[in-house]
Amino acid sequence: MKPHTLADVVSAYAAGDLRDEDVLPLLRGVYEQGLSRQGIRELTHAMIATGSTLNFDQVGKPLVDKHSTGGVGDKITLILTPLIASYGVAVPQIAGRGLGFTGGTIDKLESIPGWSAKLSQAQMTSQMETVGAFIARATSDLVPADKKLYALRDVSGMVDSIPLIASSIMSKKIASGARNLVLDVKWGRGAFMPTVEKARELAEVMVALGEDEGVHTRALVTNMNVPLGNAVGNSVEVQEAIDVLRGGGPTDVRELTVVLAREMLSMVNITDVDPSQNLDNGLAWEKFEQLIAAQGGDLQAHLPQAHHQLEIAAEHDAYVTDINARTVAEASWMLGAGRSTVGQQIDYSAGVVLHAKPGDFISKGEKLVSLYFSNKARINEAHDRIIRGFTMGERNGIVDFGPLVAAQ
Ligand code: URA
Repeated sequence: MKPHTLADVVSAYAAGDLRDEDVLPLLRGVYEQGLSRQGIRELTHAMIATGSTLNFDQVGKPLVDKHSTGGVGDKITLILTPLIASYGVAVPQIAGRGLGFTGGTIDKLESIPGWSAKLSQAQMTSQMETVGAFIARATSDLVPADKKLYALRDVSGMVDSIPLIASSIMSKKIASGARNLVLDVKWGRGAFMPTVEKARELAEVMVALGEDEGVHTRALVTNMNVPLGNAVGNSVEVQEAIDVLRGGGPTDVRELTVVLAREMLSMVNITDVDPSQNLDNGLAWEKFEQLIAAQGGDLQAHLPQAHHQLEIAAEHDAYVTDINARTVAEASWMLGAGRSTVGQQIDYSAGVVLHAKPGDFISKGEKLVSLYFSNKARINEAHDRIIRGFTMGERNGIVDFGPLVAAQ
């Protein structure tokens, strides 16, 4: 039978009865023309119906979850999950791999030797009882339609679409038994939504989808024009997340973590704590150690180290007035931190570390950025790309280009 509705196409594709090229025209139609709110709801339901669902209500603790729509240097989930669990709240965190130019939580954590993203529902439940949190990739039967559509969108350049992002994220969150959900909806050069208005629209669509399905959902719309923190890649981002969990790290990463943590805790009626305390007193770090060990990771082992390192220094005394997140992400990807084909092996050690952010003064000869790589094939291209991403000036023109909470 020839599939007629969007739902028919999604289920036939997930079942393997349609090929990628059969689905591409429909996907392109949605990507180019958009979809009504009702259409997005139907697409989301159709995607959920292609698999089975998870449920963690039996864990007996309040549940809260977060999801970012994707950014550059966005290692917040690595910090936030143990931080929230350190307050006795259960965090069932189903996460993804890199998509387009953005990084993915699972890829980052896989740079920790031994760590496994693959948990069965029984293992997830047991870890919620013992540790209070897990971070895992979706089980094979959780929204199988999204696995195929996500990969197809990634390689065919159809990621930045409100209906496709909303249905992808919310189908997984609804199917994975979320009860309370905080969304970090990003806008800017390092996000899929170019403007704050588009991000707000995406946020509204996702909040409505969640609330319709009984998932208490809130969204923060945050600025992603400049990379979040200093590290962009996989193991370099894990190291930065560890720094924040040990009470240090870049201010913007810490600030955004604390803002999202307040929101998550308030959803389960915890309003009388300052989440920065458990970053400073070691409790969030302890929880991270437990979470990583429970999933086989060895934090004593060295994180993957790149074979080569290239330092770029300032040519003049100057202020850094801007750093383009998209350009930095592309350079990191060229160094080997991202994929260009489905299932491609990435280089966990590849990436970029910024030594200055907008607003900083830097003297001639001082280090501006370090590039880490093991394969030299695209180093010249990555070098040129990163240089293009920096704007230097005689005066400090930009006051605050860090993550900005713009709406709720
Ligand atoms: N994250 C997802 O899971 N899906 C998208 O489409 C974008 C970000």
